[in-house]
Amino acid sequence: MRIMITGVKGRLGGRLAALLAPHHTILGVDLPELDLADPASVSTLVEQAPETIIHCAAWTDVDGCARDPGHALRVNAYGTKHVALACQRLGAALLFVSTNEVFDGQSRVPYREYDAANPINPYGYSKWVAEQIVRELVPQHYIVRTSWLIAHGGHNFVHAILNRAQQGEVLRVVINEIAAPTYNDDLAEAIVRLLVSGHYGTYHLVNAGYVSRWGLARFILDHAGYTGVPIEPIVLAQYPRPSRPPEFSALENSAAALLGITLRPWQEAMLDFLAKEGLLVS
Ligand SMILES: NC(=O)c1ccc[n+]([C@@H]2O[C@H](COP(=O)([O-])OP(=O)(O)OC[C@H]3O[C@@H](n4cnc5c(N)ncnc54)[C@H](OP(=O)(O)O)[C@@H]3O)[C@@H](O)[C@H]2O)c1
Repeated sequence: MRIMITGVKGRLGGRLAALLAPHHTILGVDLPELDLADPASVSTLVEQAPETIIHCAAWTDVDGCARDPGHALRVNAYGTKHVALACQRLGAALLFVSTNEVFDGQSRVPYREYDAANPINPYGYSKWVAEQIVRELVPQHYIVRTSWLIAHGGHNFVHAILNRAQQGEVLRVVINEIAAPTYNDDLAEAIVRLLVSGHYGTYHLVNAGYVSRWGLARFILDHAGYTGVPIEPIVLAQYPRPSRPPEFSALENSAAALLGITLRPWQEAMLDFLAKEGLLVS
């Protein structure tokens, strides 16, 4: 199959390209040759005649999106519209990667795939608009929501916490922001399985379970040899930032599980990640 991957230099796009390359023709695109904010640039994708487009590219800086909501819409929402129109012209399938941040975080139980979205920040809003555009324009679509990606080779929460601990900084981490940490490699494998299933629709692909930012930081420190390092729990209101995250945005995988596609518990995945990074102590 000829598979185009947008955002191929990013965390998920790069991993998907590596997984799919042995069996498919991969057409990887990213900035600067592809700029989602420029319709003309996106329409050139058609020339490469992909049969499927996996659309990972996005402006993922949530605080940047909060500072410039107009640009968030241009890139994440209308950029996705240009990609969807390219799929329409080609008769290609579209897999769009979305986020837990389409939900408002007021639930007390994990969100299912068809629960009502109600984004509370510009990044979440831009991705929610994009989801609706994909549903309107491309019948053969997959929408995959995920959360808190932890990937090798890039900036991530694990290294941020460990760096601060190593530098002897006082750690203060929020306790009332809760979601599912998701190992990038597990997500990429699940997406590949979904892609070959032909079961179009909306999916939640995250490592099973959920935890607060504080609980995740504690887990990382405890398993990387920093058991004695304290972390002060704070609430979101004590950590002012431009974007307001949903408090509880755990996602339940009820749709992909019916196809036999499940991801292991986040604790197992994080231990595997730490081991592969050479950071696991106990
Ligand atoms: N990371 C998470 O925790 C998370 C959670 C939920 C959902 N998601 C979604 O999952 C997908 C993949 O995330 P990721 O973490 O792999 O993202 P990433 O590492 O930030 O990669 C995104 C890629 O898109 C590119 N990009 C940015 N603006 C663009 C534009 N205007 N035109 C074309 N390309 C552009 C980026 O280039 P530059 O690096 O040069 O900007 C980057 O290569 C995204 O759609 C994201 O919204 C991510």
